[in-house]
Amino acid sequence: MRAKASDMHRKDCVKVAVRVRPFNKRERDAGSRCIISLVSTSITIQDPRDCHNRRSFCFDYAYWSHSGFTRDHSGLFVPEEPGGRYADQHSVFQDLGVGILENALQGYNTTLLAYGQTGSGKSYSMVGHGPNKGLVPKLCERLFEAIRGNQENRQCQVFFSMLEIYNEQVVDLLSRGSRTAGGLRVREELQRGFYVEGLRKIPCENALQVEQLMEQGTRTRTTAATHMNANSSRSHMLIILQLKQIFSKESITKQSNINLVDLAGSERQRSSGSEADRLKEGTAINLSLTTLGNVISALADVAVGKKAVHIPYRDSVLTKLLQSALGGNSRTVMIATLSPADICYEESLSTLRYAERAKRIQNKAVVNESPTERLVKELKAENTRLMQKLSRMDQEGRRASDESKELRQLLTQNELQIRAIQTLWEQHLQEALKDWEQQYASITQERRMMQMYPYILNINEDAQLSGVVKLFIQEGEWGIGLCDSSTRSIPIKGLGIQERHAVFRNEQRRVTLTPLTGSKVIVNGNTVYETTELQHLDRLILGSNCTYLFIGYPSERGGDDWSRYDYDYFQSELAAAEGIHLGESSTGSDQTDPSLLAVFYDYIKLMPLVAEANQMSQELNKGVEFKLEIKNLALSDSRGHDLQKDIVVRVTSAGSKQVWMWSKAKFVNRKFLMEEVYQQFKAEQLEDKRVEDLPAVVLPRDKDPFWDPVEPLLLGTAHLWLQSLAFRIPLEEQLEVLGSEGTEEAILQAELLPCTSTGLPLGEDDILIDPSEALGRRLDFQLVLDQCCGVRWIREARNRGIQIGFRVFDCSEPLYTPAVWHNINPLLDHRVQFTSIHTSQRLLDYLQSSAVVLELWGLQEGCTQMNSSLEAVRMTSEGDFIIDESDPSEAALSFSAELSCSVKALQQDLEDQKSLNESLRRENHSLREQLNTAKNGGDIARGRSLRPSCDAEFARALKVFYHSMTSVRAQLQRLRRHRPSEESDLLGLRLFVDEQNRLLRDFSEQLEESVSALKQDVAAIVRRKRERSGIWS
Ligand SMILES: Nc1ncnc2c1ncn2[C@@H]1O[C@H](COP(=O)(O)OP(=O)(O)OP(=O)(O)O)[C@@H](O)[C@H]1O
Ligand SMILES: [Mg+2]
Repeated sequence: MRAKASDMHRKDCVKVAVRVRPFNKRERDAGSRCIISLVSTSITIQDPRDCHNRRSFCFDYAYWSHSGFTRDHSGLFVPEEPGGRYADQHSVFQDLGVGILENALQGYNTTLLAYGQTGSGKSYSMVGHGPNKGLVPKLCERLFEAIRGNQENRQCQVFFSMLEIYNEQVVDLLSRGSRTAGGLRVREELQRGFYVEGLRKIPCENALQVEQLMEQGTRTRTTAATHMNANSSRSHMLIILQLKQIFSKESITKQSNINLVDLAGSERQRSSGSEADRLKEGTAINLSLTTLGNVISALADVAVGKKAVHIPYRDSVLTKLLQSALGGNSRTVMIATLSPADICYEESLSTLRYAERAKRIQNKAVVNESPTERLVKELKAENTRLMQKLSRMDQEGRRASDESKELRQLLTQNELQIRAIQTLWEQHLQEALKDWEQQYASITQERRMMQMYPYILNINEDAQLSGVVKLFIQEGEWGIGLCDSSTRSIPIKGLGIQERHAVFRNEQRRVTLTPLTGSKVIVNGNTVYETTELQHLDRLILGSNCTYLFIGYPSERGGDDWSRYDYDYFQSELAAAEGIHLGESSTGSDQTDPSLLAVFYDYIKLMPLVAEANQMSQELNKGVEFKLEIKNLALSDSRGHDLQKDIVVRVTSAGSKQVWMWSKAKFVNRKFLMEEVYQQFKAEQLEDKRVEDLPAVVLPRDKDPFWDPVEPLLLGTAHLWLQSLAFRIPLEEQLEVLGSEGTEEAILQAELLPCTSTGLPLGEDDILIDPSEALGRRLDFQLVLDQCCGVRWIREARNRGIQIGFRVFDCSEPLYTPAVWHNINPLLDHRVQFTSIHTSQRLLDYLQSSAVVLELWGLQEGCTQMNSSLEAVRMTSEGDFIIDESDPSEAALSFSAELSCSVKALQQDLEDQKSLNESLRRENHSLREQLNTAKNGGDIARGRSLRPSCDAEFARALKVFYHSMTSVRAQLQRLRRHRPSEESDLLGLRLFVDEQNRLLRDFSEQLEESVSALKQDVAAIVRRKRERSGIWS
């Protein structure tokens, strides 16, 4: 749903539109949920982890391009039904494009900015894709239509410029010459404001010319990106259409700039996330984007009345060039593009917040109209003033000063400008015409060749840059590589491309590819070493990451659409060849675990970056190698549950054998910095014309993205299960220390020894049958780490060491063994005693269900070893670690609960004792009476007077029964815990059932024994009682 276009720019606030794109393949595969909804111009986003957490925003326009569309016969995406809610390219243009055009024709400067994360649809909205043309081409078409429709009362001139800002350097995308080192300069003039010096402005007469220029610009962008290994989604693309309208009758000139800006992916800014990296400070991944955010925030503050806010326009190239667009003389529209998927929640929310801030910015647009001659007059007057100033300086003898140099430069510029204004439009056109002819000839030539020969087509991470470069393979033998001196060579540049990389042979309409020694060639995911015949739509990767699609002879092509072979396809294929794939479920099922899927996508996303980093390291002679690993693939936590998996990059220095483990975010951040170093190196190499390999590029360590101070490394973990301690049974184990990916890193000998408070081992008599007997009582045990054997880390390099780290129950900080070095089988002989003064239920549960995770840490030369932090640890007077008292209130609670239990038991005891006492008293009484009677009768057998009463015998029998029931209960618990292992096969299950039957048999036998013992006892007591009553009655 959209607002009416007619009221656009009633006020000069920046207008903001949001657009939600369809799911992409990744999101569909991941079974993503749509978390965005639209009602009219209001948009609501829902937190996927908390359905009650919703945020709504209201913008000038909101476009639903997520669903409800279909592809018509010409390939256009249109609403499924007429009037449907799907916003197609046409309707977006009707609102935003028409508004911009009308304003430009009235003489206002206008700006259209596309903002959003990578892949959210910025370029789709701005430039479009195939027949679904975006705002820029549509706007150009309409502009020339409008010009043609009003030819009689005005003369119009349109100049087209296209530039890219990459890493604060401005590149003219239409320049014919070689790239200027350091990029073009951005200058400032009083009247013009900031502008790019020497930027080509090409006069255009129709939309077709503009389209061709855009194609040319995109081609330059693509080749620049591959040559310099630059990431296109880090660059900003600016198209500047300068419209000059001369109303000869009124003697008025209206001049307006239309700035069309496709910004870099917004998430790059936050790529290093919350991750700490020593090189993060002072490194803006994209200074221009950061500054743009700061400018927008500052302007939003001004709009809400905050005074004295500094607007940091001058901090970056982009904001200098957009100064008038933001808060200045321009009518500005921002289109914020969003992915609807739950996995993009954070990014989408951040885009919406950004857009909301932008909405507040107020501009002050004016019609740029001037009497045609005024500007010339003003410039001439300024020149006279400059001349006077210069001659004064000359008289004072300050000829060579900087100031005079600058004045002279200004003079020349002004003169150039005067000449430019006075040069006739026709003259410009004449100059451009020659270019057109050349361009047109090369385009028609390319089209012809496409119908005659097979070719390879570049595939880029940015869909906009894919399919731009076509390299034809004509009949015969063609070398492909850096070398372009031979007439039979196809020159390409890129990371890891050799002088002579491979050879294409096209014979009898069959094309083969032969890799040359030392070069890397991958076909359909597999590295090839020998001549391979290519089939239509084969995927080629040359060097570290130059990706091409092979297009066969026209007869083989059919009507197939190559767009499914996108960059992701290439990388997934490569990952599959390495054994990393999603299996059947990758075809859009719900069964794949989303967290695993995320790891898979991260893996394929990082794979090319790792290949590139390795190549850069090699070319810069850094001697560092990068390798992707899946963290926690085989590891589990203290309860045996799987740990969250993640991608990490293992970095190894070939010379020193030092190893670092970088998180994904740190690697991405460092990769950007490496690119910068690499690009600078390449630019210098180009200037020096040095071709030979240079010695290692030396960088100060605080700026070297390939280097880090060495740190201890987590090599793997082993689990020492604590259950035996709950029964006070000692345990001795040989534990396998497993690395993150399941490799055996070492064997660790460890012991758990229940002991007395003084550390003496407990005997067999102290074994508990029921662990709950330990409740509330003191518990002491020792953890002994005897020896580590076969440590792989040290076997690989003897100058290394290890430490073992562990954490028991509620210890907040881990404890470490002292470091041991240079020994593959190091003796640890480390003993720690832990004490719980009042064992709580929580500790008992912990002992019965958890393990101590013993972490094997690798030490390397130059790294500081880890020390146990003992500040937060409580100790007994004997120096044992006290556990089980983390929360005193909780401990007090559980203690009072235990106390009240014992009080109850005591009360019960008391009652029992009372009744026993009472019965004893009664018995005494009757005994005394009997004694008296006996005394009177004088016939007493002596021993009989000492016989215990029946009640006492009965109590004893009950006690025996109770004890036997305790062991029956333990047996019952053992039975309850007894479960088959998860991996059990049929045989395993059978064995389990047998064992279960045996346990059941034991249990019932014990129960029967206990009950029959009780029965016998009771029967004996009854018998005796009868006998006695026979005697005594
Ligand atoms: N509204 C839409 N309808 C259909 N497809 C779309 C739409 N928006 C984007 N896409 C598709 O999504 C993919 C990514 O879009 P696009 O290249 O425009 O992203 P981007 O924001 O420019 O990314 P980057 O920052 O990397 O340049 C493209 O394949 C594009 O065709
Ligand atoms: Mg883009």
